[in-house]
Amino acid sequence: MKSYVILISGRGSNMQSLIDAKLPGRCAAVISNRPEAAGLAWAAERGVPTVVVDHKAFPDRDAFDAALAAEIERHGPDLVLLAGFMRVLGRAFVERFEGRMLNIHPSLLPAFPGLHTHRSVLEAGIRIHGCTVHFVTASLDSGPVVVQAAVPVLQDDSESALAARVLAQEHIVYPQAARWFLEDRLSLVQGRVMLAGETSGNGTALRSPQG
Ligand code: GAR
Repeated sequence: MKSYVILISGRGSNMQSLIDAKLPGRCAAVISNRPEAAGLAWAAERGVPTVVVDHKAFPDRDAFDAALAAEIERHGPDLVLLAGFMRVLGRAFVERFEGRMLNIHPSLLPAFPGLHTHRSVLEAGIRIHGCTVHFVTASLDSGPVVVQAAVPVLQDDSESALAARVLAQEHIVYPQAARWFLEDRLSLVQGRVMLAGETSGNGTALRSPQG
């Protein structure tokens, strides 16, 4: 059976959606760079091994990256899933896991990389927002796109209402992408996303606020 490791930094709602999705693989570990991440308790309660690799315990990014990579490799996963993991990873780390590491980002990349995407979308006055699952490459919040979901931006939206609408879609598309990978249908070939057996494309339709 294939296995995967999930990296978190906080709440862990995407981690929950991945574990609840009963993917065709075993969750070998949930690893957090922050000991106080709320998602750790949720995973532990379900019998998933949890590990903290605290970035504050390391003198620099390279040392943290090396310890994190060693911890991941200890579990021998087929797939690494960044789920609200908020540390920038260095080139050596990313190259080590290239083609087997996915990330979820709360915007329609390449628009709105970085933090505070929902606020930036409201400030920009655009009408369509969403989320993106992508293979991780060395540059921040970029990399070959696997699947995206779009939501409307409503006239009276608050940052939190918009964030919740996007998050609901994150919880659909991320397990979908992970499932594709674990079923050997999704791969990265010479920098391009290959998805077997999907004739309708891998974007999802614009969803109404009701879903
Ligand atoms: C999610 O919205 C995820 O897309 C975002 O952080 C949130 C984590 O929530 N990730 C990024 O911004 C990565 N650049 P969660 O801990 O409840 O999954």
